[in-house]
Amino acid sequence: MSDFEKIKNKLKNKLIESKNSQEVESIKAEIFGKNGLINSEFKKLGSLSLEDRKKVASEINNIKQELTKLFNDKAIALSDSEIDEQIKKERDDVTLPEKDFRIGKIHPVSQVIDEISSIFSEIGFSVEEGPDIETEYYNFTALNTPENHPAKDMHDTFYIEEDMKTLLRTHTSPVQVRTMLKGRPPFKIIAPGRTYRSDSDQTHTPMFHQLEGLHIDKNITMGHLKGCLNYFVKEFFEVEKIKMRFRPSHFPFTEPSAEVDIGYRIENNKIVIGEGDKWLEILGCGMVHPNVLKNSKVDPTKFQGFAFGIGIDRLAMLKYGINDLRSFFECDYRWLNYYGFDPLNVPTNYRGLSK
Ligand code: PHE
Repeated sequence: MSDFEKIKNKLKNKLIESKNSQEVESIKAEIFGKNGLINSEFKKLGSLSLEDRKKVASEINNIKQELTKLFNDKAIALSDSEIDEQIKKERDDVTLPEKDFRIGKIHPVSQVIDEISSIFSEIGFSVEEGPDIETEYYNFTALNTPENHPAKDMHDTFYIEEDMKTLLRTHTSPVQVRTMLKGRPPFKIIAPGRTYRSDSDQTHTPMFHQLEGLHIDKNITMGHLKGCLNYFVKEFFEVEKIKMRFRPSHFPFTEPSAEVDIGYRIENNKIVIGEGDKWLEILGCGMVHPNVLKNSKVDPTKFQGFAFGIGIDRLAMLKYGINDLRSFFECDYRWLNYYGFDPLNVPTNYRGLSK
């Protein structure tokens, strides 16, 4: 056997045994490369006689063809097995337990809405909802706030249409009217939701949350209102005593009207509630104005009651020591991770609200 054939057989075996495309590539270079087996055999042809040259050249060509076919077959086989190998390696076993999963957090606003709903449901309030896009009628007129009333400016309304008939509701009070028109007294409801005003600073954002409360029956008085809010504030802050004041105020849809402030102080850049010499307004309230009852098809000579509108975001700030309202709506995952709540700990009165 000539040297050429020996080398060829050796390389051929090596090729058959090769296990990946890298190995195949290097064998290919040894055979077909510039200084590879085939080329060096061709170079030798010059020293042969014409007759031998023809013979040897055709032999080399046969071998070249044989090897080329071998290479092609090998390449196909390898690419199949390499793909199989990769699929095997990359296969996810979905039955394996998760090692590094992240638990999503409940936003403080959602948490506080759940807490408040839980507190009020305990004393017989049910939950109502109304649309964010309101008509001028429900947001103002039906609530005894006539055309050109200064309260309209006070609210910094976002109007949707130029005719000023549709708007983003500036408070949840329109839900009072919608609820009363839907049913018959007595009414005892809360209505949480988004509200909008053109305003932005440390304690105001253009979108914020309110929770409306409405209790209408035959003999409801201001005393019930105070008792109800007192119960609520203590339950909400999970304390025995809280500094709270009712300030006389004005709303077109209540008479008399009051605003409620909660005492707080700042310690280490955090809000501490219930004590201190600073006051934060958390809600507006009052006895529902007879005109609102009339507009809601409720007879004011037979029924009366109170309403209140709580600023939910402010309550969340106070309870959980968050001092910039704007951070609530920046969608920063790190913030949420720090201030958010465990989704499995749903607030209840009997098990605890925030613990
Ligand atoms: N709607 C009032 C506001 O947004 C709050 C309020 C509600 C006042 C119900 C009285 C009664 O400021």
